[in-house]
Amino acid sequence: MQFPRALESVLQTLERMRDETPHRPCASRRALEILNRFPSSSEIEAVESAALSSPNLMGHENTCPSKEHKIDKLAQINERVSACVKCPNLANSRTQTVFGVGNPDADLMFVGEAPGADEDAQGEPFVGRAGQLLTKIIKAMGFGRGEVYIANILKCRPDTPGSSYGNRPPTPTEMQTCRPYLMEQIDIIQPKVIVALGAVAVEGLLGTRAPMRELRGRWDSFNGTPLMVTYHPAYLLRNQAPSEKRKVWEDMMQVLDRLEKPISDKQRNYFL
Ligand code: URA
Repeated sequence: MQFPRALESVLQTLERMRDETPHRPCASRRALEILNRFPSSSEIEAVESAALSSPNLMGHENTCPSKEHKIDKLAQINERVSACVKCPNLANSRTQTVFGVGNPDADLMFVGEAPGADEDAQGEPFVGRAGQLLTKIIKAMGFGRGEVYIANILKCRPDTPGSSYGNRPPTPTEMQTCRPYLMEQIDIIQPKVIVALGAVAVEGLLGTRAPMRELRGRWDSFNGTPLMVTYHPAYLLRNQAPSEKRKVWEDMMQVLDRLEKPISDKQRNYFL
């Protein structure tokens, strides 16, 4: 069969699978990366042979796990996180670990810095004042809080020895130590877009340090997943200038665009 006809036939088959079967066709990140790069013939062969040796469409055992499978996998990581004592000071000072919340199948994932006092008390990320603002942003985007996934770089509240209140940023060592848990979460959820909230989240995810005014509003990539950097909601609480809030909203409109979600006029004119 000639290539254009073969391609057309593959597309038709994929569309039929999407419309007629409970499991949507999917491909591993590696396969998509190769396809997006306009592959060489040897790479095409590699994808084809992986496809042939796998029960899934494009190789990789874990290509398209069901939601139940994801819930199960995340619960297993959460169990390890709950028992984690890699940072003994944090393990001693925390009330509980704060793993993450939301839809394990989410297209959109928000990553923050670390739990604060409210999150440490409730065991859920972004439930304090900054969290309420984040929830407002998520709703303005047209999502429920349970439709997206929210997690932090650190799963423990950074300790503040000698004081039961106040927050401090995570240290680079703490971030390095905790990072693998977040990597596993992202790998399971496989969001279409990640939003990094603030400079600490950027440092934890990408290892880059730069002023937020240089980082925000730009697309980056986290292992092939598009990553948008924006201000942390706590920054917006400290700096109430409408211009700063508008910047975050513009970043979120870029995210909606990337997710191919229609943006209404009301949303376009919105100010947080
Ligand atoms: N700030 C964060 O970065 N994460 C939270 O969970 C709460 C506040």
